[in-house]
Amino acid sequence: MSPRLIIVSNRVAVPEPGNKQMAGGLVVAVKAALRNRTGVWFGWSGKIDEMETAEPRIVQRNRITYAVIDLSKNDFDEYYNGLANRVLWPLLHYRVDLQKYSRADHSGYMRVNRLFADKLGAFLTKDDIVWVHDYHLMPLARELRARGHLNPIGFFLHIPCAPLDILRTLPHHEEILGALTYYDLVGFQTENDRDNFAAYLLTIPGAKAGRGLTFGVDGRRTRIGAFPVSIETATYARLARNAARSPLAKEIGESLDGLRLVLGVDRLDYSKGIIQRINAFDRFLEVNPEWRSRVTLLQITPKSRSDVKDYAAIENEVATLIGKINGRYGQASWTPIRYVNRSYSRAALSGLYRAADVALVTPLRDGMNLVAKEYVAAQDAGDPGALLLSEFTGAAAELTGALIVNPHESEGVAAALKRALEMPLAERRERHGPMLAHLLVHNVELWAETYLSSLAETQLRPSYMSDLRALFSPPRSRTPERSQTHSDKLEETQALVRLLPTLAAPTDWTYRRVW
Ligand code: F6P
Repeated sequence: MSPRLIIVSNRVAVPEPGNKQMAGGLVVAVKAALRNRTGVWFGWSGKIDEMETAEPRIVQRNRITYAVIDLSKNDFDEYYNGLANRVLWPLLHYRVDLQKYSRADHSGYMRVNRLFADKLGAFLTKDDIVWVHDYHLMPLARELRARGHLNPIGFFLHIPCAPLDILRTLPHHEEILGALTYYDLVGFQTENDRDNFAAYLLTIPGAKAGRGLTFGVDGRRTRIGAFPVSIETATYARLARNAARSPLAKEIGESLDGLRLVLGVDRLDYSKGIIQRINAFDRFLEVNPEWRSRVTLLQITPKSRSDVKDYAAIENEVATLIGKINGRYGQASWTPIRYVNRSYSRAALSGLYRAADVALVTPLRDGMNLVAKEYVAAQDAGDPGALLLSEFTGAAAELTGALIVNPHESEGVAAALKRALEMPLAERRERHGPMLAHLLVHNVELWAETYLSSLAETQLRPSYMSDLRALFSPPRSRTPERSQTHSDKLEETQALVRLLPTLAAPTDWTYRRVW
């Protein structure tokens, strides 16, 4: 029987009637990782309860066990609203200016990570593979190791990783960011994120870079890598084709009554650049009067993290700005910007993407941005829309057929929007085709497979071979080696592998869990 895959994330999409649809890439990614596997998805229930959860609440669906715990009000304030969303989120999105650190939040964050380790540890078996997701749970591997769990443990950061100088502004960063060295494999969305973290790792006293992006710290070894997250491309494309024939699509088509549709879909978050986007649309209408009454921007923006002050502030700012623009250009028969604070089902969104002539995906900083990928997948390949994409998203490295923009320059975005709306069919097809082809191969299933096989490999990594060599070879091996041929290396590796079962199990987990 293959080992269980244990996914750990702050939120868990428990499939129960009445549960709200969860927005964002993490859910899509985790569901794909668990598909066709036996596994557990462990995390916070989304509920606040003053009574400490004695045991996780369990929901079983086919081969997946969902195990969730409640948090106390204090945990929610200090761990989720506090260190995770008032400190780590802004910091990792390059917004040092918005970071609001407090020692109380820091200790609340550590406390909840310990709570997760206690509750999770109680049902971990030695063969489980553990995969932890996102910035809420950076110290979890250290806590699990401290409780004696020797399992392979991987981590994936869904959001960006800022450069070294920004990371070091986090007070006591070594306790949080440094704790990532307790994972066997730390995955990032892009090479840029990975390299930022590599630069950070080298500032940890005693850290050493090994081969193949491995790092040694205090006798532990961790490997880092870039694993761009993706979507279920073929399934999404099918969903959009069907949605195009749905009553909602018909209703929207009728309400547009010939207007061209520009679409923005984002959680209400300052990192998404919604204010800058609205300003760019304002600029577009100002300099292109011929487009007035011919186009509408539909901005779909579910509210999020409203307990955090900066989120409440942006809520007012966006609403006020949109009101002003609608007042300035609008007419009784035409609203320039339609603004909606609710979330839509996957199917409804896919239909909207397909109906949109242009998607505006212009975050100031985003780990990946799956809206961009979903928009590409949802298009009619014979008559696709155009994608405007911020150069500061992870997706920009892959979606090279998009019109890449700098969201900080409203004139530039306005000009790109005009170009997108007026782009000839042949160019739209030329840009869209290769992006779709790329996403059909680089889908979320490939992402999960690649990450998990890389995690499995960390147990047979080159550093492990050299560790074994150092342990068992006579002192002469410390003199410089003659350069080895490939077959020398192969022979040596085979000899070591043959030796493995005869060796006594060492006490250190970095060696022991290999066999
Ligand atoms: O990775 C960031 C992320 O987890 C996304 O998947 C999702 O969009 C968002 O954050 C959800 O945020 P929250 O759980 O705070 O509502």
